[in-house]
Order: sequence, then C-alpha cells, then structure tokens
Amino acid sequence: MKSPPKTFHVKSFGCQMNVYDGDRMAEIMAEQGLTATDDANAADLVVLNTCHIREKATEKVYSDIGRIRKEARSKHGTDPVIAVAGCVAQAEGAEIVRRAKVDVVVGPQAYHNLPDLVARAARGESALDTDMPVDLKFGHLPPRRRVSPSAFLTVQEGCDKFCTYCVVPYTRGAEVSRGWVQVVDEAKALVDAGAKEITLLGQNVNAWEDDGRGLHDLIAALADIAGLHRIRYTTSHPNDMAQGLIEAHRDIAKLMPFLHLPVQSGSDRILKAMNRSHTRDSYLRLLDRVRAVRPDIALSGDFIVGFPGETEADFADTLSLVDAVGHAQAFSFKYSPRPGTPAAGMADQVASEVMDERLQRLQAALNRDQAAFNAASVGRRCTILLERMGKLPGQFIGKSPWLQSVHVVGKAAIGDLVDVTIVAAGPNSVTGVMIEQGEGADEAFQRAKLDVAA
Ligand code: SAH
Ligand code: SF4
Ligand code: F3S
Repeated sequence: MKSPPKTFHVKSFGCQMNVYDGDRMAEIMAEQGLTATDDANAADLVVLNTCHIREKATEKVYSDIGRIRKEARSKHGTDPVIAVAGCVAQAEGAEIVRRAKVDVVVGPQAYHNLPDLVARAARGESALDTDMPVDLKFGHLPPRRRVSPSAFLTVQEGCDKFCTYCVVPYTRGAEVSRGWVQVVDEAKALVDAGAKEITLLGQNVNAWEDDGRGLHDLIAALADIAGLHRIRYTTSHPNDMAQGLIEAHRDIAKLMPFLHLPVQSGSDRILKAMNRSHTRDSYLRLLDRVRAVRPDIALSGDFIVGFPGETEADFADTLSLVDAVGHAQAFSFKYSPRPGTPAAGMADQVASEVMDERLQRLQAALNRDQAAFNAASVGRRCTILLERMGKLPGQFIGKSPWLQSVHVVGKAAIGDLVDVTIVAAGPNSVTGVMIEQGEGADEAFQRAKLDVAA
C-alpha cells in the first residue's frame, strides 16, 4: 500500500508521438489535482513513457526504474508509485511487473485510464491496462491548455505496414485516423493556448483519412485557422504520398517546405526483405515529383544499416542513394532484432562490428549533406519561429521553414515570428540576423558576421 500521490513527473522516450502522449498524461494528472515536478526523484508518481523500437531503448527502462527508486529512497526517503506507459508497456505487459515490481502498466491506447490505475495501485490492487479499445482515448482527455509555440497534434495512430524489423504495428495497433472535427477542434484549442506552429503526428501520418478526405484536405482546413502560422506533418510513408499532398506543398503557404520520408535502405533486395513495398527507384521518382512543385523542400529520412543479409554491395546502394538525394538531415540506426518480428529470425544476421563501421560511413555522408544544406542557405531571408532562449545573453533559438535551428540575437520574445537573413552555417545549426528596417540594418548584419567569424 502506498498513499495516493500528490506530485508527479512524466518522462518520455522515443518518438514525437510519445512526447504528445506524455503531455496528455501530464494534463490528465494535473486535472486530477496533482502537481507536476521537474525532479523525477522527488515525485510521488513517476510515469515512464517508454519506447520499444530498439533493444537499447527497452533496456533503458529497466535501468531507469532501478535508479529512480534508489535515488528517491536515498535523497528523499520516499518510495514513489512507478507507472510504465508507452510501447514497452504494451509489448511486455505483466512481464514488467514481474521483472521490476512496478505499480502500474498502461499501454499507449489506454492511458486515459491512468487516474483509475494509480488509485488501484495505491489500494494495493493490480493495475495493468494494455487494451486497445475501438473507442479511442482522445475523447476522454482533458482540454489543451498552455502549450509551447510549436505544438504536436496526433491525428493518426498505428501501422498496417508490417515492415519485417519493426514492433510498431504490435505496440500501437492497427492504423486509425482521428475524425476531422476532433482534429480541427484540438488544433483551434492549441492555437488558443499559444501554438503558432502545429506538427501533425502519425506513425503513417499521410495515411490519415476521414470520409474520403485525405491529409492535404485537413491541412488546407487547418491553414484557415487565424493565428496558426505554420503546419508540419510527420512521419510519412512513401506509399501514402498522394499527389494532393505533394501539391499542398505548392499551394498552401502555411505548410512548411520540409518532408521526413524514411527510405531505410537504397538496395532493392533489402527493401524487399524489409517488406517496404517501395523500391529505390520509386522512392527517387517520388522525390522528383515533390521537388518539381517545391524545389526548396528540405528532405529528411531514416536509415537502418545491417538488416539481415545486407552485403557490402547493398550498403553501397544505400550510400549512392544518399548521394542522389542530398538530405537536409536524417536519422540512421544499427539494425536491432526485436522479439516477435520476422527479421529477428532471418538467417545472415550482420555482425555488430560490421554495422558499426557501416553506420559511421553512412553518418559521415549524411553529416556532409546536412552541412552542405546549411551552407547553401547562407544569404537566404526567411521567417523563423522563436522556440527557446539560447546560451548567450539575448540569444534565441528558432526554427527556419526548413527546420534548421537558427541562432539569433535581438529584441524579441519566445513565440515571435521574426524575419532574418541567414549569415552563417555550422554542421547542426545556422546563424541569423534579424532584418531591421532602416538605419542600422547593415551595421547589425556586419556585426553578426564578425561574431560568427570570431
Ligand atoms: N513509421 C515510421 C517510423 C517508425 S520508427 C516509418 O515507417 O518510417 C522510426 C525509425 O526507427 C524507422 O524509420 C526505422 O528507421 C527505425 N527502426 C525501426 N525498427 C528498427 C529496428 N528494429 N532496428 C533499428 N532501427 C529501427
Ligand atoms: Fe514500422 Fe514500417 Fe510501420 Fe514505419 S511503416 S511504423 S517502420 S512497420
Ligand atoms: Fe518507440 Fe513506440 Fe514511438 S516503439 S518510436 S515510442 S511508436
């Protein structure tokens, strides 16, 4: 038996959808009258919102549980209620209770029941819920309040693609779209709560549909919300990239010129074994169509190295695809065999050292392209959204339309949209100067250039 918690801390791992879910769980607990605390070790209730995508992510949960317990005990003399949420909760269920003696286990489609589960745990009862109800959780969540200038909005969940390496179809369930009205209402609430930019989220966000309407129709409707300045969406699957969505990048000014479109490999043989259902060529042709309507689009992707059976020749195909695309940024991972997925049982698993070496070469190529993209943006004028303070006095960090981090100094406030000229570029960010009207503008520009050079 533990006394009912008064303070809570939510810690999210994994993808942006988990960040969204973590925010919603915090809103639920706040509505129950609990107070949020930044220190995980001092909270009465700790929610670990977990990720199962690679083995390392999963193992981290168990080490975190041990560490939080130990520090809570030694520093505060407390024994917090520990709730495991997210994809590990879904995948491992009761096994987590056996292995780590946690109080609550709640899956990604059941967390609207968190208050009830926490109350049950406090009474010493079993508190595990990994149901995937047809009636989605969203209708049971409290209204949105106080959000950052750039906010997430989940519009689609789950995945029917069953790539042979991936756990998501098992942890998040089948593809489901939230309804039009509910999404538009939440977007309006986010804008009322301070959002200037909304990123629409889904495991396959471009598969979103409601009554024959697709993601581009939804984006067009959201673009009519006064006070909403920018729209993004992620993650997309190449096979769901409808012509309407491509054209939205030409027709809808509020839709930002950025596309995260994972390809995973440049080898057709490997793509087939991954069950990706697109080819190297169909992917490249798709990008041609996007660039035809929006030449400045910034492209991003995900890559896996060392999928079972990947030879040096297959990997060379991935490198040549990277050369052909020229990504603005990208994520790359060592293949991690996941329990229950077809690839985990495939012959010819690639040795870890071989994966390490390939990952290094791939990341060198991707870093080169990211630096080149940043360098090519020097001299561009654009509007940036200020998201947080930087390290230097008066410095802000904002995002360019192409999702670059932009450092800028000036009189402004977080949440402002300011016009800048990009004057310098580094590997991971660029520097801008605010475009001042009239006298002093040239001087500010020169000063910033000197700062950058120094
Ligand atoms: N729905 C998205 C992203 C899913 S997970 C998509 O289809 O692109 C994010 C990324 O994690 C994937 O794109 C993939 O690159 C990587 N990933 C997924 N399973 C993995 C595994 N078993 N090992 C290594 N990387 C993996
Ligand atoms: Fe996983 Fe493939 Fe679905 Fe993406 S599309 S979530 S990689 S199964
Ligand atoms: Fe991880 Fe689940 Fe997201 S496995 S990447 S938290 S969908």
